[in-house]
Amino acid sequence: MSDTDFRPLSLDEAARLRDDLDARGRKLVFTNGCFDLLHAGHVRYLNQARALGDALLVAVNADASVRALKGPTRPVNPENDRAEVLAALRAVDGVVVFSEERATRLIKTIRPHIYAKGGDYTVDSLNPEERAALETAGSAIHILPLVPGRSTTATLQRAASPENGPRRLRLGVLGSGQGSNFQAILDAITSGRLNAEVALALSDQPDCAFLQTARAAGIEARYVDPGPQPRRLGDAAQKEIAEHLRRANVDLVVLAGFMKILRAPVLNAFADRIVNVHPSLLPQFKGANAPQQALDAGATESGCTVHLVTAEIDAGRILGQASVPVLPGDTAASLHDRIKQAEHDLLPRMLAEWPKKPA
Ligand code: GRF
Repeated sequence: MSDTDFRPLSLDEAARLRDDLDARGRKLVFTNGCFDLLHAGHVRYLNQARALGDALLVAVNADASVRALKGPTRPVNPENDRAEVLAALRAVDGVVVFSEERATRLIKTIRPHIYAKGGDYTVDSLNPEERAALETAGSAIHILPLVPGRSTTATLQRAASPENGPRRLRLGVLGSGQGSNFQAILDAITSGRLNAEVALALSDQPDCAFLQTARAAGIEARYVDPGPQPRRLGDAAQKEIAEHLRRANVDLVVLAGFMKILRAPVLNAFADRIVNVHPSLLPQFKGANAPQQALDAGATESGCTVHLVTAEIDAGRILGQASVPVLPGDTAASLHDRIKQAEHDLLPRMLAEWPKKPA
């Protein structure tokens, strides 16, 4: 038996809400999401969405679809609780729970006048099926800006460590590309495997996925202009990076796919406190294109290494390694993908063991 009188709207009731409004010349705004741990970012977003029309209907992902979207440790709160909390907000006129990963079926049934989505999307990056359904329904699409610094991931990070537990490691993470290792670090923090928080994410590439991941997680994300030479991080950039890391008061700097070489003053300011993940079993295959080097050398085994960063490239003390087989028919890309899977396990584990005593 339920301990609450609350129940979400059925799909029919939601469609009726739309038709009633339509009959009175009013507009229904529709949005959807997980809304796992409600924070001020959600509230501001929902207020803005509501202001686009005359009533706001929120579709909440059911528990199974949150798990599929966000990983096995989510949601923190069950679907009915999430729906109940949302329905109590001033901006929200109705809540439905839906079990698919996409809201296509709801859009087709409800035919909202206006569709609102959070700002980590663009109209072009909306799911094509959802977008087609919105176009058929004649819904106007509005992308609303994200509220910086507010996210469920950041909330979970803050909650992860009890006040009097072991001190939470403050990480500064640097990356240049896809950011899959960065995501693995965030996942490890969220699931409690790594007692850390990411204080700052820095990149030498203005619009890379790495920085987008940081922004979506509500983490301070900064682009540092590398300077005039394409391959080299100039003196001003080295200084700026050191300054940002100092100001963020990080304990440890993590190079998670950072493709430039750090020198003074970063190396001095964080001596023995910078770790890198490299896609080979060091000391083999140092430098760029390590998976291709492994193939060219005819290696039958490669892997990844987490090591301390020193002035000599890929030569600092090794903290841990994991090997993967090189398979017949491997390309550099397929081998690199397999190595990255191993990195996603190794890097967060090595961070969780920090500071690691010399073997
Ligand atoms: C990883 O393979 C890492 O070893 C290397 O750069 C790659 C970064 O990948 N240094 P991602 O950006 O973390 O996906």
